[in-house]
Amino acid sequence: MLENTQCQKALDCLKKGELVILPTETVYGIAADAQNEEAVKKIFKAKNRPDFNPLISHYAEVSEIDKDVVLDSRARKLLEKFSPGPLTLVLNKKENSRISDLVSSGLKTAAVRIPEKELSLELLKSFAAPVAAPSANLSTELSPTQIEHLNPKLLDQVSLVLDQGPCEHGIESTIVDLSTDKVIVLRFGSITSQEIEETLGEKVFLKDDSGEVKAPGSLLKHYAPKTKLRLNSKEALSENDALLAFGEPGSNTQAFQKVINLSPKADLAEAARNLFASLHSLDKEAFQSIAVMPIPEQGLGLAINDKLIKAAS
Ligand code: TXA
Ligand code: MG
Repeated sequence: MLENTQCQKALDCLKKGELVILPTETVYGIAADAQNEEAVKKIFKAKNRPDFNPLISHYAEVSEIDKDVVLDSRARKLLEKFSPGPLTLVLNKKENSRISDLVSSGLKTAAVRIPEKELSLELLKSFAAPVAAPSANLSTELSPTQIEHLNPKLLDQVSLVLDQGPCEHGIESTIVDLSTDKVIVLRFGSITSQEIEETLGEKVFLKDDSGEVKAPGSLLKHYAPKTKLRLNSKEALSENDALLAFGEPGSNTQAFQKVINLSPKADLAEAARNLFASLHSLDKEAFQSIAVMPIPEQGLGLAINDKLIKAAS
């Protein structure tokens, strides 16, 4: 029996092929046994997610990951440095990989990661097998960084919610593709490309440099709030606009119905943590539009701007 009774219940649910909401340090996930195709189908259905968009498998230990995908020295280095933590690696599947083809959408590669939240690690450790978990939002909606964001339509389809408070990072994990000789960052997250480059001591390519889009999910419409976002602006264009500020907002704020500041002290990590919760909250209030102040295009700012550009398009 697990020490935490909620974890024990979650473990029983996973073993029965049911869905569980899983806390992680990035965003909440909707999880199922990655070996059980019937269970994995429930994830795609609950999220209304196209089946060509593969899922990340979650683990507690490198020794378990090693059973399912090929770990070269680069992968081991990155896992040692950044796991548990907001890093996902895309690696070649082993012949006898436990990760079902449905999870990896029939690709030869699979995405794996070790999340940092204690409850999830306890659960994953005792499950001792891959657990598939995309972000726990409906496709095209914002990812949840606290359980209050969970869509009731999604909650209807899960057996249990493991609540471990707000997610510390607030944006999804950095995805690094190591399935070829090149190191390619497929999705920006809290771990920056510079950090990957420094750890590996080799050049890192960004998904655009390589010419093709490799994360199938990046082809899709994403993170779309209902309210129109206007990026790099601190101007109100109507009487019913909101401002998503960063740093010192200036004197213009009275023109807005509401102002939320992602980080008054202009700290990018704080802004990332607050991003989805702020968008969730502003989007509920039916403003005409939301002006978003410029975010510096460096380090974590790249990840934040990537989310904002997708949300605005
Ligand atoms: O922080 C996170 O990574 C969260 C938490 C719950 O762990 N999960 C998450 O999952 O963001 P999801 O499904 O929302 O995003 C997974 C991304 C998708 O864009 C998908 O296309 C990509 O990972 N992906 C998965 N397997 C892949 C593969 N074999 N090759 C390339 N991209 C892959
Ligand atoms: Mg997602």
